Amino acid sequence: MKVLVAFGTRPEAIKLAPVIHRLAAAPDRFRTVVCVTAQHREMLDQVLAFFAIRPDRDLGLMRPDQTLPELTAAALPAMSAVLAAERPDLVVVQGDTTTTMATALAAFYARIPLAHVEAGLRTGDRFAPFPEEVNRRITSLVADLHFAPTARARDALLAEGVAPDRVHVTGNTVVDALLAARTRVRPPGGALAPLASDPRPLVLVTAHRRESFGAGLRAVCRAVRDLVERNPDLVVVLPVHLNPRVRAAVEEVLRASPACGTRLLLTEPVGYPDLVWLLDRCRLVLTDSGGIQEEAPTFRKPVLVMRDVTERPEGVAAGVARVVGTDRARIVAETERLLRDPAAYAAMAAAENPYGDGRAAERIVGVLGSRRGR
Ligand code: UD1
Repeated sequence: MKVLVAFGTRPEAIKLAPVIHRLAAAPDRFRTVVCVTAQHREMLDQVLAFFAIRPDRDLGLMRPDQTLPELTAAALPAMSAVLAAERPDLVVVQGDTTTTMATALAAFYARIPLAHVEAGLRTGDRFAPFPEEVNRRITSLVADLHFAPTARARDALLAEGVAPDRVHVTGNTVVDALLAARTRVRPPGGALAPLASDPRPLVLVTAHRRESFGAGLRAVCRAVRDLVERNPDLVVVLPVHLNPRVRAAVEEVLRASPACGTRLLLTEPVGYPDLVWLLDRCRLVLTDSGGIQEEAPTFRKPVLVMRDVTERPEGVAAGVARVVGTDRARIVAETERLLRDPAAYAAMAAAENPYGDGRAAERIVGVLGSRRGR
């Protein structure tokens, strides 16, 4: 069976790497073609290098500060041309990015079966996360095979009328990737190097969601500034996403903080192994990322989710995550509660990871192997 795996951003690469490695380990059964849209460039290339994945095709679609219509309009014909040339038996996509959605449509137009990894995540709000909630719904509409990470994700798909025999609960491949990476992680160099021997509590912060651009992101940055100023023992690391809208908010609010460069480290996006190291090293995480919500429980680190809704309520139910929105005072209060109240901290840090056991890719490739090529 010829399988074309398509992706475009850093998180898709992390979550598809275990699947690509499994497919590549069975060359008698699968011919694997890796196609990247390169919706991200630097951030994607770092992860490809770490996982030793060399794309067969690279569409090079990233443009500075690209709009969603521009990216979608470029991705559709480019991916359609690849599908016409490669004629795979199956296309595999992951998650909910513009690349995912555009590739799903291209596969549909070419009448090529589609498998969707991490299917069935829903907030129920079309504008949160924006545009990802609609991207993943479109992808579900097109997909022939749905790999749901959890029972809740499966139930969401069944409630939308997806046939039960097309849905497989596999766990999330993010855990497979993390367990593989963990053994290779070393203390970081550069600006992060002193943290390895710094006993002070560390808070890891990431923020990049489009629905937070503007007031929400500025409030998040102000909360970070408050935390650093009110807690003289605290160290905060904030790797700044390359999206120019994110950079502008961080520069505006945080660059002038007196703690900047000492207890407030605004860094370039850190590579995947450094992020894994930071998750291990930190005391807690403030984030709007989906993947980090799934990764932190492996390290038993409490996660405060800086969004109004999450499509990953399993972490909240397990007790390891709490949704705090983008309100400045609430972010500060909830963070300080965890820093100062050992019982509150221990209650969150005790939870098991509800997202997977590290065998998701094995299950996914097992299901693919039971299908026939054309
Ligand atoms: C995208 C995904 C989001 C995912 C996120 C992970 C969509 C709609 N959104 O959002 O679901 O959580 O990736 O990071 O697909 N840039 C660079 N270099 C890079 C990456 C980005 O310069 O390596 C800059 C470019 O100016 C680019 C901009 O960031 O145009 C925005 O990137 P884009 O892929 O549109 O959206 P993200 O905000 O990264």
